[in-house]
Amino acid sequence: KKENYIVGIETSCDETAVAIVKDGREIISNVVASQIESHKRFGGVVPEIASRHHVEQITIVLEEAFNEANITWDQIDAIAVTEGPGLVGALLIGVNAAKALAFAKQKPLVGVHHIAGHIYANRYEQEFHFPLLALIVSGGHTELVLMKEHGKYELIGETRDDAAGEAYDKVARMLELPYPGGPHVDRLAASGEENITFPRAWLEADSFDFSFSGLKSSVINTIHNAKQRGDELKKEDIAASFQGSVVDVLSTKTLKAAIAYNVKQVIVAGGVAANDGLRKSLNEKFSGTNIPLLIPPLKLCTDNAAMIAAAGYIAYEQGKRSDWDLNANPSLVL
Ligand code: KG4
Ligand code: ZN
Repeated sequence: KKENYIVGIETSCDETAVAIVKDGREIISNVVASQIESHKRFGGVVPEIASRHHVEQITIVLEEAFNEANITWDQIDAIAVTEGPGLVGALLIGVNAAKALAFAKQKPLVGVHHIAGHIYANRYEQEFHFPLLALIVSGGHTELVLMKEHGKYELIGETRDDAAGEAYDKVARMLELPYPGGPHVDRLAASGEENITFPRAWLEADSFDFSFSGLKSSVINTIHNAKQRGDELKKEDIAASFQGSVVDVLSTKTLKAAIAYNVKQVIVAGGVAANDGLRKSLNEKFSGTNIPLLIPPLKLCTDNAAMIAAAGYIAYEQGKRSDWDLNANPSLVL
């Protein structure tokens, strides 16, 4: 069988990324231009600034990906691009670049769901075994997805308010830590004590949904009340106690869902998968079962285009093609 080469393009948030991938599982090049420095002083991603950076970066990143891969356009089989969800102005840059290239180079175009990409990042580490459960935890998402076959996704649980990463970033802000705050809270938590009782939103007994806004409010109130009392709470202890609550709910519900759906594999994706507490807790919980748990290296957890090419490869092989009317869809469903 002839080799397959897919170009992946990702611009849904604050990274401009292009990758070239062989046969869906071999990264030939994977270029990511991060904009974190530009958004830092605003304490979060500013959509207007994100779009502008994508416009400036997209052709440079494309060229770099092709140079690194040492490949020409006639070897390319298809172009896969994130069509949603994400920031609409940011998505549009990638979608339009992909459409222009598909037209100019006469290549098939495949629209990819950003979360499908996060899931397929794991396939660089290990082949999938179905049924499979994916926990996606990032700045914009907290979801449990069940897969019974390639390219088919069943959402079995999701956050009803804040995403896990969003909660981390908000708590980090209260603790006066720089953006993105997740890694800083994680670091502080390691030297703190879990001595503050924060709520855990278990929701209904049979629900695999999540909720983090109550926890966030509780952290705000605790800090505020302590200040009023003239009490000095240790930042490390707040971080450890907050993390304890997030990690407990995430790992407990993931284990429960894995057992309920009798899955053969559990994978974790998204930026919060880098969290030390979450990794430890999941490893501990699943070590008591015979269900294999896979947490990919950080480089594949955070936004990149290799993951989009990996999911795009499956869609391409399954015959999925996007038309010229492909559009950015900020609330695309999986
Ligand atoms: O997947 P990602 O790079 O971007 C999207 O949101 O799609 O995830 C970024 C999120 C941010 O909220 C960041 O604070 C969080 O992941 N994060 C962490 C850690 N590293 C990144 N949260 C907790 N602990 C970490 N070690
Ligand atoms: Zn993402």
